[in-house]
Amino acid sequence: MMSESMIKKVFLRFCLLSLLIIVVKTSPLKKSKKINILESCPNPIKGQIVYPDNSKYTQDITCENTRVTTFHPAAIVYASNVEDVQNTVKCAKSSNLTITARSGGHSYEEYSISGDIVLDVTNLNQIDINDNAKTAVIGSGNRLGPIYYNLSQAGFFIPAGSCPSVGIGGHALGGGIGLYARKFGTASDNILSIDIVNANGILITANANQNEELFYALRGGGNNNYGIVTSFTFKLHPTPPKVTSIHFVYDFSKIQTVFDAINKLGLTLTDDMTFSLVMAPSSDTHLELEGVYQGTKKNAQKDLENFISLSKPTSTEFFEESLFSSVVRWGFESVNDTMNPSHHPSKFKAKSFLIKPPGLSPKGIQSIKDFTLNTPKDCPTYAIFDLFGGAINKVAADETAFVHRNILYGIQLYMNLNGDSTTNKKCIDQINNFGTNYQKSFNISSSYQNYIDKELDNWQTRYYGSNFQKLVSIKRKFDPDNFFHFPQSI
Ligand SMILES: Cc1cc2nc3c(=O)[nH]c(=O)nc-3n(C[C@H](O)[C@H](O)[C@H](O)COP(=O)(O)OP(=O)(O)OC[C@H]3O[C@@H](n4cnc5c(N)ncnc54)[C@H](O)[C@@H]3O)c2cc1C
Ligand SMILES: *[C@@H]1O[C@H](CO)[C@@H](O)[C@H](O)[C@H]1NC(C)=O
Ligand SMILES: *[C@@H]1O[C@H](CO)[C@@H](O)[C@H](O)[C@H]1NC(C)=O
Ligand SMILES: *[C@@H]1O[C@H](CO)[C@@H](O)[C@H](O)[C@H]1NC(C)=O
Ligand SMILES: *[C@@H]1O[C@H](CO)[C@@H](O)[C@H](O)[C@H]1NC(C)=O
Repeated sequence: MMSESMIKKVFLRFCLLSLLIIVVKTSPLKKSKKINILESCPNPIKGQIVYPDNSKYTQDITCENTRVTTFHPAAIVYASNVEDVQNTVKCAKSSNLTITARSGGHSYEEYSISGDIVLDVTNLNQIDINDNAKTAVIGSGNRLGPIYYNLSQAGFFIPAGSCPSVGIGGHALGGGIGLYARKFGTASDNILSIDIVNANGILITANANQNEELFYALRGGGNNNYGIVTSFTFKLHPTPPKVTSIHFVYDFSKIQTVFDAINKLGLTLTDDMTFSLVMAPSSDTHLELEGVYQGTKKNAQKDLENFISLSKPTSTEFFEESLFSSVVRWGFESVNDTMNPSHHPSKFKAKSFLIKPPGLSPKGIQSIKDFTLNTPKDCPTYAIFDLFGGAINKVAADETAFVHRNILYGIQLYMNLNGDSTTNKKCIDQINNFGTNYQKSFNISSSYQNYIDKELDNWQTRYYGSNFQKLVSIKRKFDPDNFFHFPQSI
């Protein structure tokens, strides 16, 4: 048995993996003619606008990842309502300025601050629940923790990721995977309708009955490609009476046994079970499985019997609890911090590999293990394996822009960059080279678009697969001038 404090220490959810280093972006912004440009907009913007000469500016462009230091937007607009979004788009367009939307600011490459103007949707934070219809209109500025909490108070739930500070805007538009996905699908799979301000500043609705193509594109390919989403209507799930969180520990040297079990049983495992396997870096070798089962402890133990006997954990723990408690547990924050999450800025670089059945060969697993064991200690690297299948794989690959429907598990290599700039640069080169070679050696063709990666080759196919051409044609229709763009936009 492990004590609570050991569990806390041992458990590694990448939300909290990084040291809390606040990095101040020092490069001074040159006074340019763009400064305060929005003051001459024909229609006044009601929300706050932060320009580079404002003392809040540096803090306000500090995102979750602080590795990238090249973006210095000319203004950050905190839209107070949908009209502000429309007026900002119209003004930016007429001034020939680019614009990027920002929800939770968790883009791995800080693309949400890559435009001349950042349109921050934080204040579009309504959550309007319709009990009878079991739907909720959720403003694109909400973060996952507050959404989980708010819905749970009304007895409802939507499936999404584990980090409470991630914004629903970026998250749901790029898919959205968490410990509920094998039961309920991706966050994007649960969207019924989307309100979006297009490149002409017009508010349009996309759902199964109107602008169907756009609706398809936004569910997996919606990140700043077609417009600025102001709200989503989600299908709600009633919260089950009990769920069971699981925590298994494995002998690090027996990793292949675990993967033999995952390769053999992963796709046939009950949809009630979703889990991730976390491999910690060399300084702190652990192999841990964490997950959520939709049901009682008794049923979880029964349904996992086979998997346990094959994978051979050294310890197993089951925690029967409310669904919201499982959210708090795997977010690794207090209840208060889950309800009211704060940023934890740090430097990191990540790689994503989506693995099809029958899973990687033993050499493929060994190679990941060797990488995490051999990275410099200033750049501790975690490998997180998320089991796919279940509800995720029941949606057809061409039904929405989220194409990854035949995956057994996803791997995220997540490297903290704690060294000086020379060391960090070396580490980044190392993980980039590893990624490229790894994809070649093991014939890996897909990556997860929400773990966006500037150095990824052939990203169009890796993120969108066979859906890419259709996404391009929808782009031509809804944003022919490519007004919404960033380094990896459609
Ligand atoms: C610590 C951490 C934990 C994470 N955990 C998970 C997880 O458990 N599961 C998972 O699937 N992913 C996870 N992610 C990845 C996360 O889903 C993506 O980074 C997501 O895109 C972040 O959304 P955001 O709104 O917070 O970020 P932002 O940086 O605000 O936005 C990301 C992208 O979406 C665009 N965008 C944002 N809002 C809008 C809008 N309203 N309209 C149009 N485009 C918009 C931005 O321009 C940008 O290109 C995690 C990321 C981090 C940093
Ligand atoms: C708009 O900006 C683009 C790129 O910054 C530039 O090529 C183009 O000439 C500009 N157009 C006008 C009308 O200013
Ligand atoms: C949920 O959000 C709505 C709208 O923001 C608010 O009126 C309500 O009080 C919230 N409920 C809880 C329990 O936080
Ligand atoms: C949580 O928030 C409530 C209300 O703001 C406060 O009373 C309480 O002290 C907080 N608890 C902790 C542990 O911070
Ligand atoms: C590599 O992957 C592609 C696409 O998944 C597949 O068509 C091809 O047969 C694979 N090649 C090898 C050598 O495994």
